[in-house]
Amino acid sequence: MNYKKIIAERIKCHVELDLDTIEKLIEIPPKPEMGDYAFPCFQLSKALRKAPVMIATELKAKIDVTGFETIENLGPYLNFFVDKSMFVKSTLEKILTEKEAYGSSDLGNGKNVIVEYSSPNIAKPFHIGHLFSTSIGNSLYKILSFEGYNCIGINHLGDWGTQFGKLISAYKRWINEEALEKDPIAELLRIYVMFHDEAEKDPSLEDEARMHFKRLEDGCEEETKLWKRFKDLSLKEFEKVYDKLNVKFDSYAGESFYGDKMDSVVEDLESKGLLVESNGAKVVMLEEYNMPPCIIKKADGATIYATRDLAAAIYRKKTYDFYQNIYVVGTPQALHFKQVFTTLKLMGNQWADDCKHVGFGLVTFGDKKLSTRKGDVVLLEDLLREAVAKTLEIINEKNPTLENKEEVANKVGIGAVIFAYLKNSRERDIVFDWNDMLSFEGETGPYVQYTYARGKSVLRKAGDISKEVDFSLLNSKEEFELVKELESFNKAVLAAIEKLEPSVITRYIINVAKAFNKFYNSHSVLNVEDLALKATRIKLVEATCQVIKNGLALLGIETVERM
Ligand code: ARG
Repeated sequence: MNYKKIIAERIKCHVELDLDTIEKLIEIPPKPEMGDYAFPCFQLSKALRKAPVMIATELKAKIDVTGFETIENLGPYLNFFVDKSMFVKSTLEKILTEKEAYGSSDLGNGKNVIVEYSSPNIAKPFHIGHLFSTSIGNSLYKILSFEGYNCIGINHLGDWGTQFGKLISAYKRWINEEALEKDPIAELLRIYVMFHDEAEKDPSLEDEARMHFKRLEDGCEEETKLWKRFKDLSLKEFEKVYDKLNVKFDSYAGESFYGDKMDSVVEDLESKGLLVESNGAKVVMLEEYNMPPCIIKKADGATIYATRDLAAAIYRKKTYDFYQNIYVVGTPQALHFKQVFTTLKLMGNQWADDCKHVGFGLVTFGDKKLSTRKGDVVLLEDLLREAVAKTLEIINEKNPTLENKEEVANKVGIGAVIFAYLKNSRERDIVFDWNDMLSFEGETGPYVQYTYARGKSVLRKAGDISKEVDFSLLNSKEEFELVKELESFNKAVLAAIEKLEPSVITRYIINVAKAFNKFYNSHSVLNVEDLALKATRIKLVEATCQVIKNGLALLGIETVERM
């Protein structure tokens, strides 16, 4: 229930202010004895030529109190005390009727929003850094869709660029076909690393690689065939990971997709007088904006990362007429996106303002740093496998007789990893620690999942009670606090959209779980004599489970009924 809106509407009947202004004036008082909401009358004083205290007194006499326990005037304020039992009733009934739709809205009104996420590089390992983009993007996709936006999820694969010239050179010299079939990414990485080592001794290798990439851009058959093979092999590996995570995309239009769409961008830049020669390269000068130039074409005529991003943004606008175009890419690329967006704007595209870079921090595991050059990365596959294995150990210890333990460990273990990625503001770096991630206590995925399973177990034990519920019986502090949490789900979702920040949802779910456990530890649900109270508390448990489930779904985490 949106009390601020209700209060604003009531006040509006008696004063000459617009609804928005009134709503913005409404405050949450600092102390409970001042009510749940307060409206200060100072602003009306001038217009009405009356003292604020007088206005508050008069308003109190006129205003409709339905839905409130009482409305008081304390000095120049009008103070609203919410009718708790009505609040509890309307909140729980709403949750239990709307079910999986509870918390959603049609705010987005079908507007197209592009969410670009994951976007790994072909022929490189999918490491723990990639799950940051993947989990944030997947979650934003779900959150925005939940609020009525029409999302288009794009995996902007890194499948084009000079590195493929290097890979082709390396392939022709050192490939081990057997190894390539067995573990394609490891073998491609091996020869790629080898290329760098050898090129240090023999710089002519670099020229050869440039030649191969040039031929690839020109569509030569041999290079194209090899490139396609690298791509297919890599995609197969990536898809295994996406399946495990249950992540999907609407489009895999990566960098190579823009191969034939860059000439027109270059021509457009040229005709608008934006291209400048610099050491043989063609660049857009961005000095005026305190940025280094945006390189469009290298001295050898090859296009580059930024050129493809310009073509991609223009293509996306044409194809999807987006309301927003969101790039979930690490913060180290912030400058790149600023350069691209500024160049788009200089080309006269006002919609460049609707392009948003959603950055995130670095991920490390203990003291291992992530780097694809040295080959000492923590592979995501290994991380997920270990998380599931460790979760299985914990379950074996805590609940040895549980059926389908593997399946539960899979969902809870992978959920724990995703939860850990989405727990803090995305700009913060993450240093992983198994304990912080997998423990059943503290602010973790398993803690929340366990709370859910606990609730579900209560519901199973309760069975069907054919007793009329009476929401006015839920009048303890713990019960009311829990209902208040449940009621604010939609607010949390909207705040997550405002900041493009899934951690708002993660924190929200943690708070729900905490409020539930406080309630559950101080009130019995199954052992109460008053059957009406029992039936009503069961509804509270049911509603809590529903909200946790809806919230976790927005993070891309599945719940389990028992654990
Ligand atoms: N493939 C790039 C990387 O792994 C990320 C791509 C980001 N998206 C973009 N439109 N530039 O660093």
